[in-house]
Amino acid sequence: MAYTFQKNRENIDWVQVTNILNGFGLTDFTPEQTRTAFENSAVNVFILDGSKVVGCGRALSDGISQAAIYNIAVEESYHHQGLGKKIISLILEETSSCNVVLYTHPNTVSWYEQQGFRRMKTGMALYHPSSIEELIRMDFI
Ligand SMILES: CC(C)(COP(=O)(O)OP(=O)(O)OC[C@H]1O[C@@H](n2cnc3c(N)ncnc32)[C@H](O)[C@@H]1OP(=O)(O)O)[C@@H](O)C(=O)NCCC(=O)NCCS
Repeated sequence: MAYTFQKNRENIDWVQVTNILNGFGLTDFTPEQTRTAFENSAVNVFILDGSKVVGCGRALSDGISQAAIYNIAVEESYHHQGLGKKIISLILEETSSCNVVLYTHPNTVSWYEQQGFRRMKTGMALYHPSSIEELIRMDFI
């Protein structure tokens, strides 16, 4: 199947992006909040099948040495075609001078390890109080 890999926000349907992210429990954003989160991120990646968004990812970055990846997701019926890895590689193209950090669900740690990410010995986070119970429940912390 021919997909479009897009690094800008032109003609992106934020309802579709939000449905993918909220569907996996990665966010609980409204479409407007999703748009703001991507607009405020240095790197955006979308995969489209025709005009339909089927995958996405974004990274915050200073553009020099540091970046952080968020909101990586591929719609379920498009899994196992290499699209998730493609999203990561497209983000890494835009952050090639950077150390790139992320945190993820316990189930996807090994997926990121396959792509060269390493567990950090001193990585720390100050989680928002409203997230902590859920993060403990999901075995993030
Ligand atoms: C993680 C995710 C983006 C992978 O997307 P994908 O397009 O299916 O991934 P790819 O096709 O590039 O890679 C698939 C390969 O990675 C491996 N893989 C997939 N999910 C994995 C997991 N949870 N743990 C370890 N390895 C995994 C398998 O080897 C798989 O190979 P296969 O297709 O031969 O079975 C997708 O499962 C997803 O959207 N999950 C829900 C959201 C999420 O968890 N996002 C990441 C956390 S932010």
